[in-house]
Amino acid sequence: MESYELVPIVTWEELQGRLDSLAGEINRDYEGESLIVIGILKGAFVFMADIVRRLSLPVEVDFVRLASYGQKSESSEEIKITKEIEIPIQGRHVLIVEDIVDTGLTLSWYLDHLQKSFKPKSVKVCALIDKSERRQVDIPVDYVGLHLDKGFLVGYGLDFSERHRNLPGIYEVRFAS
Ligand code: IMP
Ligand code: MG
Repeated sequence: MESYELVPIVTWEELQGRLDSLAGEINRDYEGESLIVIGILKGAFVFMADIVRRLSLPVEVDFVRLASYGQKSESSEEIKITKEIEIPIQGRHVLIVEDIVDTGLTLSWYLDHLQKSFKPKSVKVCALIDKSERRQVDIPVDYVGLHLDKGFLVGYGLDFSERHRNLPGIYEVRFAS
């Protein structure tokens, strides 16, 4: 594997404040309602655990795993579901938790699938990182943890070839030049 170093971008301590205010927003927006939180595997698992533990609403949790084949940034045609959600969500408020929204192709495809297949009452999106400058399709990201457009990021659930998901903070992968 190519050699690289990890440059710290956001520490675990710094993340706590962002998580508190994000969850605070969600608690306020859904006050008096119950919520289905769907995490997109695998990247969202750490973020999702931190968000749901800060919610004071009645919450049900599920996960979906999406696989994209073919060339990234080409189209969303090659996206497939390799693990579908298992709890009923028809007529319910749904919050999708995603690690990074980059081109937006993955999420745009999934939001479409969710509406068509399950008819939820509402769907909103909560992303740890929004790389909005790289967006190719216009999708709403309702709750954003951090706006970080540059670099390839790992840690806090994010991986580089399945590595570094377990790092508590967020790091940028810098390749040796
Ligand atoms: P897109 O929005 O369809 O382009 O794809 C977003 C997905 O690409 C995310 O859910 C991540 O799995 C992955 N991804 C994009 N940028 C990064 C990164 O910097 N680190 C790790 N995964 C990334
Ligand atoms: Mg992902």
